[in-house]
Amino acid sequence: MKQININAAFTVYQSTEELPEDIKSLMEQAVEIRKKAYAPYSKFRVGAALLLDNDIIVLGSNQENAAYPSGLCAERVAIFQSGSIYPAAKIIKMAISAASDTNKTTTPIPPCGACRQSIAEYESKQNTPIEIYFMGETGEVYKSDSIKNLLPLMFDKNFL
Ligand code: THU
Repeated sequence: MKQININAAFTVYQSTEELPEDIKSLMEQAVEIRKKAYAPYSKFRVGAALLLDNDIIVLGSNQENAAYPSGLCAERVAIFQSGSIYPAAKIIKMAISAASDTNKTTTPIPPCGACRQSIAEYESKQNTPIEIYFMGETGEVYKSDSIKNLLPLMFDKNFL
């Protein structure tokens, strides 16, 4: 028997003020699209902004449904839109902002498990890492250099 340890590394910025200018701008776009979320049930709004290698920015917000599982997270709205419209483009960076209508989110809100798996698919497809920045409404911003920190031992096409 042996034990293995998998390290997950994150850079922590104290606030958006500490972010590099291009990421600050990407996060601002995530915040703006977050405000357009369709979240009448959870009142929890998420915005995602993707920077592609063709310099285009693709945005997404969560879209809920009265039949709850039929809704979709902001991250997947954005990455599926990117994959549909620009199938050859690589996703370089991703900014995520989440806020509740009922309480203030002050800690970084990470992508859910299903979104992590979807982001992993695109890293695997494009064979380059995606930088992921995530935050709440205010406060610290976490940065991961790749989905690998958020999804250790991830399942991908190499197992098929
Ligand atoms: N949500 C996202 O958009 N992204 C996540 O990674 C976590 C959850 C949405 C789904 C649902 O509309 C609401 O937040 C509450 O779960």
